[in-house]
Amino acid sequence: MENFNPDKKKIFIVDDDEFSLENLSLSFNAEHYEVSTTGSSEKAIELLMNNTYDIAILDLKLQGMTGLDIIEKTQDQQKLTKYLLITGYSEEEAFIKATRIGVSDILKKPYDEFQLLSTVEKLIHIKKLEEENIAYKEILQKENLVLKEQIKKNYENDQNLMVGDSPRLKDALNKAKSVAEYSMNTLIVGETGTGKELLARYIQINGARKNAPFVPINCAALTESLFESELFGYEKGAFTNALQSHAGLFEVANGGILFLDEITEIPIQLQAKLLRVLEERKIKRVGSTKEIEIDVQILSSTNRNIHEAINKGFLRQDLFHRIGSTIIDLPPLRERREDLHLLANHFQNLYCRMFDKDIVSFSNEIWNYIENHKWEGNIREFSNFIKNYCIFGTITQSKNYQISPLKNDLANSFLFNYGSLDELEDAKYWLINKALKTYDGNKTLAAKHLGISYQGLAYLLKNITA
Ligand SMILES: Nc1ncnc2c1ncn2[C@@H]1O[C@H](COP(=O)(O)OP(=O)(O)OP(=O)(O)O)[C@@H](O)[C@H]1O
Ligand SMILES: [Mg+2]
Repeated sequence: MENFNPDKKKIFIVDDDEFSLENLSLSFNAEHYEVSTTGSSEKAIELLMNNTYDIAILDLKLQGMTGLDIIEKTQDQQKLTKYLLITGYSEEEAFIKATRIGVSDILKKPYDEFQLLSTVEKLIHIKKLEEENIAYKEILQKENLVLKEQIKKNYENDQNLMVGDSPRLKDALNKAKSVAEYSMNTLIVGETGTGKELLARYIQINGARKNAPFVPINCAALTESLFESELFGYEKGAFTNALQSHAGLFEVANGGILFLDEITEIPIQLQAKLLRVLEERKIKRVGSTKEIEIDVQILSSTNRNIHEAINKGFLRQDLFHRIGSTIIDLPPLRERREDLHLLANHFQNLYCRMFDKDIVSFSNEIWNYIENHKWEGNIREFSNFIKNYCIFGTITQSKNYQISPLKNDLANSFLFNYGSLDELEDAKYWLINKALKTYDGNKTLAAKHLGISYQGLAYLLKNITA
């Protein structure tokens, strides 16, 4: 009896010529493939409907119907079966139809065994990639749902949302509590991934404005043309596309908090307009003369060195005084290594639950790695590291690119060796680094230089440490 091998690929062959059918099936080594065959079109339809095969090989010309008819009748997106059509005729119409109905490949007679096997192996590989993609998508959807629930639950109840008990973090949290209590405008500074946005939300849930709106704005996305209409809103008819009146973000945030994320990316000429609103505490919608009183607490963040940003003209000094009467500095993870243990347990709990994995204690090897790694991407990099560990059970080395725009001296040159995909990734990040360096960390200009959107660049940067 044949040994059962779950990795064997299932091949199904349909040909009404007995000799070719036998020839075809003999091409497949029984050790690697499980082959089923039929010479009847009706039987083929029945078997394809009721079974799942990796590859279905069909001759174009069959008795009663064509291989294409069978494919059309039995195709099921969920099964991912790859259809290989074999034809001895150069029939353009059949080729066009084959492409239209999603035949995976066509093999023209005469072909040799090598061509047959390599085509089949190629299709098996494509199918495997498709299966992996589907699995990833499912993981992502699940992750998204659990994260949403987790975040909601945490924001509602959890005072210890910012994990860590290092003196530096405790200082920041104490300051944040006062800021929350007295609704003070506050500038949160820190390298990428140190938790600036999380701290802003912490301030909200711990403060007088916890039941009022929290409105985050990515300042780098505020172009000159969007600035006023987005922030102050507009009246119907104020400009060509203003079909309805629209409240701006200041109005939406009224009574609550406006979080100006990456404030140093607001073009300098627009910073003056923002300053005026903060001073007068009033706005006017575009197209209206009516003044609306505004009461918002302004939290802002930047990952630039704030004094350098002012000196180099990225932030107006007067605006800085308005938004930064209090500054909270979130230290990089390497300067609060005491937090690593708590964070490791926190993320392990979170991700093991998320991916239905058992919580196993970290080995010495893992702790060694955790304690000695630089964590340039800070908590975001660390969280991704633990997530990978929970899923794969091994250390996946995080890429140690220096992505902080202010200390970006890595890799002044990049040399291709073998042209592998890994190198392509490296080249991508080298180019990003170079652009950031050229524009002194200004992501808007770097993105423009690279020919991608600001959001595209932000996405790539966040994934560097993944
Ligand atoms: N103390 C902490 N405890 C638990 N999770 C944290 C902590 N600090 C940050 N995180 C998590 O790390 C990730 C990065 O945090 P966040 O987005 O707030 O960083 P950021 O400083 O705003 O980064 P960037 O400058 O790149 O926008 C988030 O998933 C956040 O939930
Ligand atoms: Mg942020």
